[in-house]
Amino acid sequence: MIDLKEKRIDEERQGEALERESTKKGNGRKVYIESYGCQMNFSDSEIVASILEDEGYETTKLMQEAEIVFVNTCSIREKAEQTVRKRLQSFHKAKAQKPEMIIGVLGCMAERLKTKFLDEEKLVDIVVGPDAYRDLPELVREVDGGRKAVNVILSKEETYGDISPVRLGGNGVTAFVSITRGCDNMCTFCVVPFTRGRERSRAPESIVAEVKDLAERGYKEVTLLGQNVDSYLWYGGGPKKDFDKLSEEEQAMSVNFAQLMEKVAQVSDQVRIRFSTSHPKDMTDEVLEVMAKYDNICKYIHLPFQSGNSRILEMMNRGYTREWYLNRVEAIRRIIPECAISADIITGFCSETEEEHQETLSLMEEVKYHFSYMFKYSERPNTLAQRKYEDDVPEETKTRRLTEIIAMQQKHSLERMKADVGKTLEVLVEGVSKKSDKELFGRTTHNSVVVFPRENFKTGDYVNVKVHDCTSATLIGKAV
Ligand code: SAH
Ligand code: SF4
Ligand code: F3S
Repeated sequence: MIDLKEKRIDEERQGEALERESTKKGNGRKVYIESYGCQMNFSDSEIVASILEDEGYETTKLMQEAEIVFVNTCSIREKAEQTVRKRLQSFHKAKAQKPEMIIGVLGCMAERLKTKFLDEEKLVDIVVGPDAYRDLPELVREVDGGRKAVNVILSKEETYGDISPVRLGGNGVTAFVSITRGCDNMCTFCVVPFTRGRERSRAPESIVAEVKDLAERGYKEVTLLGQNVDSYLWYGGGPKKDFDKLSEEEQAMSVNFAQLMEKVAQVSDQVRIRFSTSHPKDMTDEVLEVMAKYDNICKYIHLPFQSGNSRILEMMNRGYTREWYLNRVEAIRRIIPECAISADIITGFCSETEEEHQETLSLMEEVKYHFSYMFKYSERPNTLAQRKYEDDVPEETKTRRLTEIIAMQQKHSLERMKADVGKTLEVLVEGVSKKSDKELFGRTTHNSVVVFPRENFKTGDYVNVKVHDCTSATLIGKAV
């Protein structure tokens, strides 16, 4: 009797455990993730994939076979949001044919618009902000139970530091590694502080461990990511603080960006290091000195200036003047003479005059960027600029100014590329050229794309290539 009863209890327990397992597991359900926006968003999608795969879901590259579709969204400019909206509408249509499909919106637009997607637009089943991805399995369960699910809580601590990202759609050679989340800067035009929350740094040990793991798996390049990598400061966890606000104990254990980069560079001389984005107000000579010291740190800095005029910079709350910015460029030239620089530029910010626009062009002339990302100012709801200033530069003027800026950049890119013709440069091969499978492509330390005949080389090789020709976007050469 007793035996039987115990057996029954055992079976019940096993049954319960199995039930728990099966509700915990995604049971191989297929998830398709589509990402928009910056590198941080793409990196976050890899964290999302990892969280879901741990729960037994599978990721797929084919939307058609997915039971769950997640769109990781961007709010930075109005156009970015429009693109995502169109995409969500098309998924919504697909759902009409396949009602069991779950559609979720992740990322910055989810954070910005919160329950609006559920209440007004009724386009999706799940809304999840950038700090709530650990909750995704639970949210899917809620939807399975017939409810809509939302978590847009921002965190002061979450860095997903313990999660080892699943590399989605990568080339097996280059990878992103997030080192900070959020942003405390409050540039007046920008939604990021609202969508990503307070700035916080990830533990250096977990960053170094991730890079070591990548190196062991054959990766050859990592890009350290943050909205403002220069303000990285580890002191044991929690929201960003300035070094002089730390206790003695915290100061003793603190690690700044220069120190972090040095640790990462020491992982393997076969792994190149890149980082993005540098902020002109925080970029120190110490960082530049570490860059100069290690051959495997790429000699390339993405240093957005946004505007060449100090009045506009002040209105943007960027925390530096034109002179300060040019002083930082001068420091780069002094400490790393061969360094390539790229920028982000916004044209047509509130009240920008023709003279002020000319100052953006003249700053470009002074620096001669290798590359730039150039944008028309796009007013974002609830930002400081939207509340304080009028978006008063006419659209035609913005367009014309942008055209001038783009023309100037193309001229400089071509000059920079031409200067490399005749040189032999080390290229890390990233894959087969899109135009011809007889050619490979890769990047130089300056982040310039190089195309050259395949011969017997393969993805992941470092190859010395002699450049014999170029366009404004590509160097053309042959291995030597
Ligand atoms: N943290 C990075 C930038 C992240 S957003 C930095 O501070 O440099 C990337 C770029 O988008 C910005 O550098 C800026 O040039 C552009 N951008 C941001 N908000 C914008 C807006 N409202 N309109 C147009 N461009 C914008
Ligand atoms: Fe936005 Fe400025 Fe932060 Fe960059 S530094 S993310 S532009 S607020
Ligand atoms: Fe866009 Fe958010 Fe990145 S607004 S640019 S996805 S931080």
